[in-house]
Amino acid sequence: MTINVDSNLCSQCGVCSKVCPYGIIDPANEMQLPRVHEGMDAICVSCGQCEAFCPSGALMLVDGSNKAQESVIQKGVISPENLGHFLKSRRSIRTYKQTQVPRTTIESILDIVRYAPSGGNSQLVEWLVIHDPHVVREIAERTIDWHREMANSGNSMFSSYSSLMVDAWDKGNDVICRGAPHMIISHIAEDKPLTISDAIIALTYFEIAAQAFGVGTCWVGAVLLAFQEQPSILEYLNPPKGRIIVFPMLFGYPQHTPQLIPRRNFPHVTWR
Ligand SMILES: Cc1cc2nc3c(=O)[nH]c(=O)nc-3n(C[C@H](O)[C@H](O)[C@H](O)COP(=O)(O)O)c2cc1C
Ligand code: SF4
Ligand code: SF4
Repeated sequence: MTINVDSNLCSQCGVCSKVCPYGIIDPANEMQLPRVHEGMDAICVSCGQCEAFCPSGALMLVDGSNKAQESVIQKGVISPENLGHFLKSRRSIRTYKQTQVPRTTIESILDIVRYAPSGGNSQLVEWLVIHDPHVVREIAERTIDWHREMANSGNSMFSSYSSLMVDAWDKGNDVICRGAPHMIISHIAEDKPLTISDAIIALTYFEIAAQAFGVGTCWVGAVLLAFQEQPSILEYLNPPKGRIIVFPMLFGYPQHTPQLIPRRNFPHVTWR
């Protein structure tokens, strides 16, 4: 990737060279405008830092898309207090309305999520969205079937946990998928295992963005365990081939909403 700099606008401030993560932009001098160092185009990851930080709007990344750039939110529009309050107000949701979240809303959430950071701006995280509530229910049922086997086998490392799950299920509590109408699963390429961090970060963005749309979420390790221990449950979803399933998350409109922010531990920090 390379850059175009408008000579009428460029003040030669040097910011673009400083913010480029790979230091590949040669600063301007009397002879030339800032430019990607010769032969270094291939190193550019299209992160857009140079374009985003240029104070004069002089620099454009030449990536063929020529999309209009949205201005960033101004300092102070969201105060630290407001953002902190918003983040602290998020809770895992375990009771859901059966009203479905429209696909357009899910797409709007994912449109925000695509701005989550990724190593080397690789943007390789992909999504499997289980929109059909019957399929989510089926996953819960198959997971309980597996727990029933584990509970009955007696010698499984999961038998006491499995017994608890089965007892609760038999009393009518969906302790697996919590009656959620939808599930979203982040997944990565088998040959790119290091992008697992990107997939967790992206799912965290999903959870936070969803809240702003009135959509509640819950990470669901119980289903991840089932996917890992009983692969037929995952196969039922016919996941895309050649991918590693990273984490499933339940979502839907909350039936009950929290009124208070619960207590949490204070951070343990080692200063040097
Ligand atoms: C990796 C991970 C796995 C989780 N798995 C489950 C799960 O299987 N079932 C569930 O009900 N909640 C699950 N949770 C939600 C946690 O229990 C919850 O985040 C924690 O108790 C704090 O509550 P809060 O999210 O309301 O702040 C999981 C959370 C994380 C981060
Ligand atoms: S897009 Fe990123 S990597 Fe490419 S030149 Fe600009 S700042 Fe550097
Ligand atoms: S940041 Fe913008 S104004 Fe400053 S040197 Fe680079 S292109 Fe020119």
